[in-house]
Amino acid sequence: MTTLYEVRDGIAVLTMSNPPVNGLGHATRRGLVEGIDRAEADPAVRAVVVTGAGRAFSGGADITEFGSPKATAEPNLLTVIAAIEACSKPVVAAVHSVAMGGGLELALGCHYRIAAPGAQIALPEVKIGLIPGAGGTQRLPRVLGLETALNMIVSGEPVKSELLAGLPGQALFDRLADGELLPAALAFAAEVAGARPLPRVRDRKVAHPNAEAFLQFARNTVGAMSRNFPAPLQCVEAVALSVKLPFDAAMKRELEIFSGLMLTPECKALRHAFFAERAASKIPDVPADTPVREVKRVAIIGAGTMGGGIAMNFLNAGTPVVMLEMKQEALDRGVATIRRNYEAQVKKRKLTPEKLEQRMALLSTTLDYADLKDADMVIEAVFEDIGVKETVFKALDAVMKPGAILATNTSTLDVDRIAAFTSRPQDVIGTHFFSPANVMKLLEVVRGRETAKDVLQTVMQLGKKIRKTCVVSGVCDGFIGNRMIEQYSRQAGFLLEEGCTPQQVDKAIEKFGFAMGPFRMGDLAGNDVGWYIRKRRYLEKPDMRYSKTADLLCEMGRFGQKTGAGWYDYQPGKRDALPSKVVTDMIEAHRAALGITPRKVSDEEIVHRLVYALVNEGAKILEEGIALRASDIDMVYLTGYGFPLFRGGPMCYADTVGLFNVVATMKRFAANPLDDAAFWQPAPLLARLAAEGRSFS
Ligand code: NAI
Repeated sequence: MTTLYEVRDGIAVLTMSNPPVNGLGHATRRGLVEGIDRAEADPAVRAVVVTGAGRAFSGGADITEFGSPKATAEPNLLTVIAAIEACSKPVVAAVHSVAMGGGLELALGCHYRIAAPGAQIALPEVKIGLIPGAGGTQRLPRVLGLETALNMIVSGEPVKSELLAGLPGQALFDRLADGELLPAALAFAAEVAGARPLPRVRDRKVAHPNAEAFLQFARNTVGAMSRNFPAPLQCVEAVALSVKLPFDAAMKRELEIFSGLMLTPECKALRHAFFAERAASKIPDVPADTPVREVKRVAIIGAGTMGGGIAMNFLNAGTPVVMLEMKQEALDRGVATIRRNYEAQVKKRKLTPEKLEQRMALLSTTLDYADLKDADMVIEAVFEDIGVKETVFKALDAVMKPGAILATNTSTLDVDRIAAFTSRPQDVIGTHFFSPANVMKLLEVVRGRETAKDVLQTVMQLGKKIRKTCVVSGVCDGFIGNRMIEQYSRQAGFLLEEGCTPQQVDKAIEKFGFAMGPFRMGDLAGNDVGWYIRKRRYLEKPDMRYSKTADLLCEMGRFGQKTGAGWYDYQPGKRDALPSKVVTDMIEAHRAALGITPRKVSDEEIVHRLVYALVNEGAKILEEGIALRASDIDMVYLTGYGFPLFRGGPMCYADTVGLFNVVATMKRFAANPLDDAAFWQPAPLLARLAAEGRSFS
């Protein structure tokens, strides 16, 4: 049984017990209905309390049943709620810790609600592209009023229980428990045991002096803010029904809207991302209970762009950091930058001045490796040069205590080679942060050939602690994200040669949903970074074709925003990308030199060439085992490269288009003499899956 039944002093207590968060799986739902029936039939029972064991009242749907017939099997949640509502004895929900989604809808179906303070209350369905589907959109406005309910449903954000126990008639909770919840709930149940008729949320009216005008305002604002995502606006429509229609008719419409959304590609993409994030933390040969090493103090080598940002992550989490540099000036600059970043947060009221000082007090600096001996982990973020990395890792090997984790933030170098500079390759790992490291969610955790399992597990947990989305990558040039982006950038270059302008390419892919097109991104990150990599490629892979336009741009000194000019022009102190005549002339001259007559390239072709370049390289990465699963690749692109969330990531998008269609389009591109036929040779895995009619997932 996952719902426990006991009777205490004439009160039946139904305790959902389905760890970790009492998800409303089939067995739990059945247990609830059976418990209600049993309480109804027992003349000694005067009232019922429904509560949750352990860490939650209920977190809502049981995600392990998602997509399986069990998820909707009777008794479904609507049936459970109907049984509770119809019970002839009062049913009291005793809410603590977490009541979310279906868990909150269940509580709303009870006759009374009592809560422990501090419980997180939410209807987060919108975050996976849905609306609440078991009466949430109809019952919440009835207890909280139109505006508060709509805010909660459209944002999906949790609200603390004590804030929802306000005025009578406008409160989700009838009571807040002073002390322990269960005794308070039992006492409350005894108090209301004789109350008749039993109050039902469905019988209340939604009061609002100006409902229609408010709803129209909500439609306008929500519509403008949720471009590409249908669910938020549908939340408004569903909540609007609570004013317009009788309860049962509105419930029917709620379910129709819910079912309609379930089939949208946006909902599928959001659900994919939700599960992908959870899957990414699982490593098949590293069990979840692998012991971890304690990391209480962190050292960082290099106080430049990345070192400073990485340090902030740990300071934010309350972990002391010591930063090492070669010169005092570099340390001073690094510390000043960190302080400036925090001060900017204080200005925006995201941080208090006290917190700023607390965080800065956790930061110390040194020029001496001997000062790192107490650190449990060190992250190196020095120049991207194997010689410099060798010096640093040899020095670290000499001073770090046994068992300390030695991490490198290298973006292109071989982590195994770096590990071999030490006498303890099992303790070496890659932690590839993205810039700005204090903001970007993604952390690629690079598992070296000899990286110990407990080191990997420790870093995965630490990543979570500093609020990163961690994705494991094997060792290869560029790891998952940058290896794929190189192919995307190559295609972007070919598109220029064939007739596009940088702004046309950027606009097309931004319309598809990318946060930034390849040329605006190049200007932001620095075009010299790619130039440096290409120079290496020309020696390593002389047969690989690149468009020369990016090199010509760099030869003009146009490295991007940092030099005030790149693919675009920039006015001093501004970031607006302005089309550049100089760049257009350069591209046209280059085309003429190659004898190319420009053609009009459609937006659709631009998008497909860029995205399928990612997909094909992603398939190779998957087949080589560099990525553990296709959804890991999607997480990298959603959290590190601005890939549109509503499309679920490149691999998910390819699955949606159908791999057969992807391969067919790639064949068409291969026939274009100005493109690169070798480039469009489908990766063996992609070809195989397409031929078999299968998908990456
Ligand atoms: P940076 O040039 O801003 O900072 C490097 C810092 O390391 C400088 O302050 C320098 O004084 C210091 N340094 C150099 N040699 C040293 C040594 N032997 N001992 C102590 N300090 C030393 O470089 P950035 O951008 O922070 O990059 C650092 C590392 O992070 C590189 O490996 C880079 O590939 C990687 N990375 C960079 C990203 C970016 O967007 N900038 C993104 C992801 C990784």
